[in-house]
Amino acid sequence: MGSSKGLALGVCVFLLLGLAAATNEDLQIGGLNIDYMCKKGNKTTVMDKLLAQVALNLEYFEAEYFLWGSVGYGLDVAAKYLVDGGPAPIGAQKANLSAYYKDVFYQMGLQEVGHLRAIKTALADPPRCAFPRTQLDISKKTWADTMDKAFMAKFGKKLSPSFDPYEDSLKYLISTYTIPYVGLTGYVGASPLLKGYNAKRLVAGLLGVESGQDAVIRTEMYRQKDKKVAPYEYTVADFSNAISMLRNNLSHAFVDEGLVVPKEIGAEMNVTGNILSADKDSVAYARTPAQVFATVYGTGDASKPGGFYPKGAQGVISAKLLHKDGDDEKDD
Ligand SMILES: *[C@@H]1O[C@H](CO)[C@@H](O)[C@H](O)[C@H]1NC(C)=O
Ligand SMILES: *[C@@H]1O[C@H](CO)[C@@H](O)[C@H](O)[C@H]1NC(C)=O
Ligand SMILES: *[C@@H]1O[C@H](CO)[C@@H](O)[C@H](O)[C@H]1NC(C)=O
Ligand SMILES: *[C@@H]1O[C@H](CO)[C@@H](O)[C@H](O)[C@H]1NC(C)=O
Repeated sequence: MGSSKGLALGVCVFLLLGLAAATNEDLQIGGLNIDYMCKKGNKTTVMDKLLAQVALNLEYFEAEYFLWGSVGYGLDVAAKYLVDGGPAPIGAQKANLSAYYKDVFYQMGLQEVGHLRAIKTALADPPRCAFPRTQLDISKKTWADTMDKAFMAKFGKKLSPSFDPYEDSLKYLISTYTIPYVGLTGYVGASPLLKGYNAKRLVAGLLGVESGQDAVIRTEMYRQKDKKVAPYEYTVADFSNAISMLRNNLSHAFVDEGLVVPKEIGAEMNVTGNILSADKDSVAYARTPAQVFATVYGTGDASKPGGFYPKGAQGVISAKLLHKDGDDEKDD
């Protein structure tokens, strides 16, 4: 059910884009003045490229957050050629990590550098439709607000004191739970819409590694699921369940599961441990681009930027959704 609904929404977005194609002059959301329109490439459809643009926004976020958290610098130092003049992330800083987690997250940060290069290369054949680094906000304040929303959704109250992911390894680990999984569901949602050989190969390859990152993060958390996250009374499992509930609410769908669930939600409706998030057939959930943006903006609405993307995401699909301003999607 989830995937056919995703497909229908995807087709709807496709129709909207058909309308947009003629008048693309104002599709310059994200604060950057570049040509977002993509043309068909060799064995690549326009839609293939537009979906890769969605991913590019997420990979910028992951690269900056993992690199800054682990080593205290981002793409400007690690891979300046991928920045392309895009603005520096707001509030980026190094996290107080143990040697082990510094090592793990530095590896993930470098993996994201490769992902960015792969996507930008795929989007580079003429006309260029890869955009510069997106404006990101990964400040303590934005993380604190995000976590407060999650705890409001699940437990009806905010965290006190405010959550700071940069404070120690456990908090940073928990914060990373929010990241690769949204990309993972976005890639699953995109895959049935892809036509070109290169796009399918690329997205499968990205999905594989994003899933691996998500599994590593979830396993690290699952090992300590009953541990209280000082100074709070909440456990690691509580944090995962709060974040997943918030993301479901923001996506207006059930596509996200925490680490401990009612038995009916666990694998084969037989376990409460939930080391991976998946549907009743243990198949990965999907998100449409609109659901991805509504979730990472923290607003539940792809036409209202915010959260980690204060100016919104970039690319044709996000620009179209940002311009929608509450229009009814069925109007076309
Ligand atoms: C597509 O491939 C052909 C043959 O390999 C090549 O001549 C052409 O330049 C390519 N076009 C693009 C847009 O890359
Ligand atoms: C989030 O979704 C849950 C489950 O659907 C619902 O019970 C809850 O009221 C929602 N919370 C918010 C803040 O939207
Ligand atoms: C860094 O984290 C450790 C626990 O991993 C903690 O004991 C220490 O107080 C933290 N340092 C700062 C400056 O927050
Ligand atoms: C599910 O759990 C029940 C009760 O513990 C057990 O009898 C049954 O064999 C389990 N099903 C599977 C598929 O393992």
